[in-house]
Amino acid sequence: MRVVSGIQPTGNLHLGNYLGAIRNWVKMQDQGECLFFLADLHAISQPHVPAELTANTREMAAALIACGIDTDKSILFNQTQVPAHSQLQWLLNGTARMGWLNRMTQWKDKAGKNREGASVALFTYPVLQAADVLLYQATHVPVGEDQKQHLELARDIAQKFNNDFGNGEEIFTLPEPIIPPEAARIMSLRDGSAKMSKSDPSDMSRINLTDDADTIMQKVRKAKTDPEPLPGEKDGLAGRPEAENLVGIYAALEGSSVDAVLTQFGGQGFGSFKPALGELLVSKLAPIAERFNALRSDTAAIDAALQSGAEKARKLAEPTLARAYQALGLLR
Ligand code: TYM
Repeated sequence: MRVVSGIQPTGNLHLGNYLGAIRNWVKMQDQGECLFFLADLHAISQPHVPAELTANTREMAAALIACGIDTDKSILFNQTQVPAHSQLQWLLNGTARMGWLNRMTQWKDKAGKNREGASVALFTYPVLQAADVLLYQATHVPVGEDQKQHLELARDIAQKFNNDFGNGEEIFTLPEPIIPPEAARIMSLRDGSAKMSKSDPSDMSRINLTDDADTIMQKVRKAKTDPEPLPGEKDGLAGRPEAENLVGIYAALEGSSVDAVLTQFGGQGFGSFKPALGELLVSKLAPIAERFNALRSDTAAIDAALQSGAEKARKLAEPTLARAYQALGLLR
């Protein structure tokens, strides 16, 4: 089993990233060979401030280590230090179809009405993502629900490349997305129809892994809800996206299920559920924030960890990259 996944180093690590993806990364470290990276090359597909990208890359690395990514068990690096990601992307650009990329919902959402003004990188973003995982023959890719479509595209690209250039051999392994049963899509605290995201201008919409206890309690207290008490079972959450989101967060944090949470809180109003959720969040996140604060200022140690991870990743990437060049008939 070869596990590969990435996160963009833009802004803070939030609860959606943690429950949707990072928690699974931490678990999978004991199940297979893992590579986790900061998708800094993906981050330049949107307007950004260069000095902030450097700082965010280091901070995100510290945050992942604080969450439990162990650099003795896993290979942790930033994409930039492994040029094979960009090289393979170019090779895959010959296989990816415009029509496939045009169907990507993230492209449609992020470009909005201004497609002519969007960067080319925003459009070809999923091809780089395909390169990220195919480069290492990833078998499993732990992600939140919003990345599922990008991984399906990676499989389509792999399959077409294998068919067109493999000469009967499988050059790329088809990766499987690993999406958690609860918390695959954590929603904004202000709007149950929008996902929790780093790019939401309102900080009240998300719980950051670095928020202190008071901030967490306040964000949960102010989270949008409806006036009804919680139902006794899952079906009663239909049409109540904010309630469903908060119960889902509780279940994911506790490692139980939505039904189990409703058995405990069914019939109670948010006046009693919200403080319980706030306390659970604080108890789970405080140790992470504490580790993060201890690590973040040691930039020399972070840089050394990323360099050593990148060195290992470059070695693992080389055979697949070489095969891809060769399959395409490119003389090296
Ligand atoms: P990114 O940086 O937006 O998010 C990192 C991971 O967090 C998950 N996630 C969520 N899960 C549940 N609820 C949410 N509200 C939520 N928000 C984010 C994402 O699904 C993701 O798993 N394109 C990717 C980064 C990437 C990548 C890759 C991932 C680049 N190359 C290769 C996997 C494999 C991204 O922007 O994720």
